[in-house]
Amino acid sequence: MQLVNGYKLMEYAKTNGLVLPAFNTTNYELTAAIIKGYEATGLGGYIAISSSNLKLSSPKIIADMVKAVMKDVCTPIALHLDHGKSFEDVKACIDAGFTSIMVDASHLPFEENIEEVKRTVEYCHFYGIPVEAELGAIGGKEDDHISEEDAKTNPADVQEFVERTNIDLLAVAIGNVHGMDMQPQLDFPLLEEIAQLSSVPLVLHGGSGIPFDQVRRAKKQNLIKVNYGSDLRQAFIRTFGQAYEKNHNEFDINSLSKQAIVNVEERVKAIIAEVNGK
Ligand code: G3H
Ligand code: ZN
Repeated sequence: MQLVNGYKLMEYAKTNGLVLPAFNTTNYELTAAIIKGYEATGLGGYIAISSSNLKLSSPKIIADMVKAVMKDVCTPIALHLDHGKSFEDVKACIDAGFTSIMVDASHLPFEENIEEVKRTVEYCHFYGIPVEAELGAIGGKEDDHISEEDAKTNPADVQEFVERTNIDLLAVAIGNVHGMDMQPQLDFPLLEEIAQLSSVPLVLHGGSGIPFDQVRRAKKQNLIKVNYGSDLRQAFIRTFGQAYEKNHNEFDINSLSKQAIVNVEERVKAIIAEVNGK
């Protein structure tokens, strides 16, 4: 199956009453595990890669790999740029065939954030690709993106930000954090307020470590997408770490990579089932 356009995937989520996971990939093993997990559950969602991760590979390498792995799969999956850090990255991803984009200019002052997001939206909409942007600052660490800040989304800015930028998805900062080092404390009254004010669906970053009942509760507030990175990365790294602890002479990268795919796929399936469970 071809990659699915981000708008189509949003429609799919709406029609089926789903909150879609966005799983971050880095390499072949994570990509294969994520796509296998989607296929096994029969549910669709996003496979994502952040700007920082694209320094390790490139938009083209990632897009070609994802398309190749997707070839015999029948579940709808969009390829998403996560935390797009520059207009150049956005353009390179669109050129490579990404079907959904996030531009993250949330570190900039409000007006500059709007300007940066606006020009990305104009560009992406020309190619029929939806855009996600962030308002507020999500604390914690993701790849080489570290935010010491923990500034929640200001509800007073929501309407203006959404209207002036013309974004399709709004990433919120409501106490969610990146990584596994900090404890997420979701502010549900704030989420409810933002949901009332936003004319576009919401996205929750920092999914790893958020109790699933809280994700399901957030789903009721027009949440359409929840991002998972560290959870899968830990499953991947743990596979190699445990093998090394057992045998310091271990060198069978082939079997361990296969095992890592199995272990990550298990996490993918569990997460997909949990976020839309009862
Ligand atoms: O953008 C990606 C996610 O927000 C990943 O966060 O590593 O805490 O799951 P996480
Ligand atoms: Zn994130």
